[in-house]
Amino acid sequence: MAIVQVVFHSTYGHVWRLAEAIADGARGVNGTEVRQHRVPELLPEEMLRATGAWDAQQQFAHVPVATPELIGEADAIIVGTPTRFGNMSFQMRAFWDSTVNLWFGGKLEGKLGSAFVGTGTQHGGAESTLTTIYNTFIHHGMLIIGVPYSVREIMNMDEITGGAPYGAGTLSNVDGSRLPSENELSIGRSQGKRVAEFAAKLVG
Ligand SMILES: Cc1cc2nc3c(=O)[nH]c(=O)nc-3n(C[C@H](O)[C@H](O)[C@H](O)COP(=O)(O)O)c2cc1C
Repeated sequence: MAIVQVVFHSTYGHVWRLAEAIADGARGVNGTEVRQHRVPELLPEEMLRATGAWDAQQQFAHVPVATPELIGEADAIIVGTPTRFGNMSFQMRAFWDSTVNLWFGGKLEGKLGSAFVGTGTQHGGAESTLTTIYNTFIHHGMLIIGVPYSVREIMNMDEITGGAPYGAGTLSNVDGSRLPSENELSIGRSQGKRVAEFAAKLVG
């Protein structure tokens, strides 16, 4: 059984919603066990409450918290983060910076890695954020899986949409008012399915 691990950070819930779609896509694949975890939130409660993030995070408070040990058990790891100035969030960065033992032990070498992202705006650094995750995967010796153009939704020009060959994405608008669209969720499901299919082959 191949373990497919979806691990995300989300402040206001958009990346979590996309994580759900990715996990749904992966769950349909035979021979896989799909796990979903969130990285520890490091902002103080006072600040989360002041920005409305506290209430938003209650939506996914039931999702268990990730540890490096859990990540080490996976055969494929799909990482989601909101963008922060074209980078992954500091919460996600801190999580990966705590994987030194996995790195020294070569524990993630040969495993599959894929990534997804949330941005406020259409050209706000989605792809550069995804490559910060892929840089980390490369240092761990992982194999990167993106979204191929056979997933037609990444070429949708009829509406504004996140999602690219680099990975699924969602656009929240600067005030957070936009929820992931069906086009974006569909790209997420395809990405999850694709990673799970490769994971099942890798383990099989
Ligand atoms: C400190 C900070 C920096 C951000 N930088 C960007 C940015 O560079 N480009 C962008 O489009 N959105 C940016 N955003 C917006 C977030 O990426 C957006 O709110 C997030 O993806 C929503 O996902 P979430 O609901 O899962 O937290 C930034 C937000 C914060 C708080």
